[in-house]
Amino acid sequence: MRINDSAIVERLKELGVELRPAVSLKEKTSLTIGGVTDELLLHRYDTIPQVMRLLAEAKIPHRFLGGGTNVLIADGELPWVVLHLPAAHPGMRVEGNSAFVDASADLGGMVTFCAKHDLGGMEGLIGVPGSVGGALRMNAGAYGTQIGPWVREVELYRAASGEVETVRGNDIRFDYRHTSFADDDVMLRVKLELPSKPYKEILAGIKVCNEKRRASQPLNQKSAGCIFKNPPGGSAGRMIDELKLKGHRVGDAAVSDRHANFFVNLADATCDDMRRLIDDVRERVRAAYGVELENEVIFWRN
Ligand code: EPU
Repeated sequence: MRINDSAIVERLKELGVELRPAVSLKEKTSLTIGGVTDELLLHRYDTIPQVMRLLAEAKIPHRFLGGGTNVLIADGELPWVVLHLPAAHPGMRVEGNSAFVDASADLGGMVTFCAKHDLGGMEGLIGVPGSVGGALRMNAGAYGTQIGPWVREVELYRAASGEVETVRGNDIRFDYRHTSFADDDVMLRVKLELPSKPYKEILAGIKVCNEKRRASQPLNQKSAGCIFKNPPGGSAGRMIDELKLKGHRVGDAAVSDRHANFFVNLADATCDDMRRLIDDVRERVRAAYGVELENEVIFWRN
């Protein structure tokens, strides 16, 4: 989608927004799949409500893209523009056992920053790629740790009210890879409360998680992490593996040889290749196990 109206372009500039026309979202996602649209780089947090109101008034459909590590984006010309939070020098500070972090910060960077201040509890999240905002929205987790239990407050832009609001952690439902945030809530900042732990101990925990991850996941291939959520009491990866589907391909989209719940882009996979592979594997699992796998990856259709 193109923003051509010069009055809107001018107003965006006044609000500190950088407009980059016709950007390929391939370069913005870990799967390197995605079509083309205008990109808006928000350089200021304080003007976000005005920017959002402007886009709503001008009826410009939009989506926020965080780290792009858990999303499958349609190919071709996309019918919405993509927004990015201010990304330069995201704020991170620690006060006692509290950490205050901007949503655009890198999740792993936040874990390390807190560790250096002797705040632990998030060791399992170290290798989860993506932004803090994305991790909050999905309640990212690994190795027995999820971000949700550490959250005390989230500052967000609530499209429903048009205002920036602070929501208490107790008022947010953090489920397995799902939260009670509205789809159009925009995560801005988080306050976490973390247990004190010596840096060395946290580092040792981080090392263990890194080793486990390296041993089981295709870290050097283009993926969006796990494609399906695990069904209650089961393992999507184990079922797909048992069906001997490692290496199974549609075009350049393939089930990883290393971990069967990771689908990888071998070279130039299209969104359609990946979708057909996902649907095919889901169907085979349904036929063999009677289990309907739910996507973990978020699909942005055009
Ligand atoms: N397994 C196989 N074959 C495979 C993959 C796994 O037999 O190809 C078996 C393993 O041997 C193990 C079981 O399945 O017995 C579970 O596998 P694993 O420990 O790798 O964990 P997972 O359930 O597949 C989950 C998360 C990961 C997270 C890991 C580690 C989901 C959908 N996935 O994977 O998160 O890193 O645990 O805690 O919950 C993600 O969310 O994108 C993600 C990668």
